[in-house]
Amino acid sequence: TNLARITCIKDLEALAKRRVPTMFYDYAASGSWTEQTLRANEADFQRLLFRQRVAIDIAQRSIRSTLLGNPVAMPVALAPTGLTGMQHADGEILAARAAHQFGVPFTLSTMSICSIEDIATHVQQPFWFQLYVMRDREFMRRLIERAKAAQCSALVLTLDLQVMGQRHLDIKNGLSTPPKPTLRNLLNLATRPRWCLNMARTSRRQFGNIVGHVTGVTDMSSLASWTAEQFDPSLNWDDVARIKDLWGGKLILKGILDPEDAELAVRHGADAIVVSNHGGRQLDGAPSSIQALPSVVAAVKQGTEVWLDGGIRSGQDVLRAIALGARGTMIGRPFLYGLGAAGQAGVTRCLEIIAKELDLSLAFCGKTSLDQVDSSILLKNS
Ligand code: FNR
Repeated sequence: TNLARITCIKDLEALAKRRVPTMFYDYAASGSWTEQTLRANEADFQRLLFRQRVAIDIAQRSIRSTLLGNPVAMPVALAPTGLTGMQHADGEILAARAAHQFGVPFTLSTMSICSIEDIATHVQQPFWFQLYVMRDREFMRRLIERAKAAQCSALVLTLDLQVMGQRHLDIKNGLSTPPKPTLRNLLNLATRPRWCLNMARTSRRQFGNIVGHVTGVTDMSSLASWTAEQFDPSLNWDDVARIKDLWGGKLILKGILDPEDAELAVRHGADAIVVSNHGGRQLDGAPSSIQALPSVVAAVKQGTEVWLDGGIRSGQDVLRAIALGARGTMIGRPFLYGLGAAGQAGVTRCLEIIAKELDLSLAFCGKTSLDQVDSSILLKNS
């Protein structure tokens, strides 16, 4: 692959679409129901216009920042995404390596293909672990212990998946049940030989955080029925407090859209909250993340960092989020497309593209560092 000719995130998406089996590309790209919120996540960024400034000395610039006190090359972390290892063999390991080489955090999802221990073995730097609250609290407690043993440096607790939004394509593609070797799926695989070859090398790995760690869950089929009933609709703030105690380290609460929930998150000791609608995959009809951001920022007191994810497809979008008060951002699909397009090099390319766009956009706005950025870089009423 000539990655030099890949110049934007859309290019990575187009290549991933050609290389990744349709059922897994669709899984990444889709949103829930009518996909209104999925579309708004991207569209609402584009409505925010920058003020171009000229004749300001912008020769010395930096897009470095800190997240939870740790230095980062830019304020962008890789979001937790399930089944990352199906976009590319060893996907979680490759994405973690690309993130760490670039100098940004990687988050491993509970629903990853590679396990916590796989990442700890193959990646040197500490990573973050994302936790879903499961009905099987004993399993959840063990997951927290495993994340501690792997020296994960923060726990990302996802709060917006007590019930699951419906994605039509996953049902049609047979992804919500154990993947079925239907004729359509097999024919589709035959058009993705590179993916199949890569995958054949690592077919041992399957939902490594779960399979082999829960009695009775030994393969994809038993796993599908186990997970379907494991997301816990009874999750509440008392659980958050208990998990904070069990974990004892930095806690990031993800999936906050409402200022009242943001206040509760702060009161329950969040070190950071992520303004997120799960990438438009949960409540269709909820506001875009960037629309929800200002009211959450206004509700949160100093001491808790406010981050945003959902719809970021460029460095310009990162800059817009920072202008409206986000300390940091996370990206999901952009890095998944990079991974599907070209493995580790594709994730690196994704980060390079966003960093370059962020740096140049900062310059066009007449600023030389991110701590100079606030809403004054945007046109009023845009
Ligand atoms: C996700 N997301 C997610 N979040 C989480 O906390 N745990 C998870 O396992 C997953 N799984 C997942 C899979 C896929 C394929 C996607 C696209 C997303 C949500 C994710 O962390 C993040 O909130 C969104 O991806 C951000 O939106 P963008 O950047 O994809 O627009």
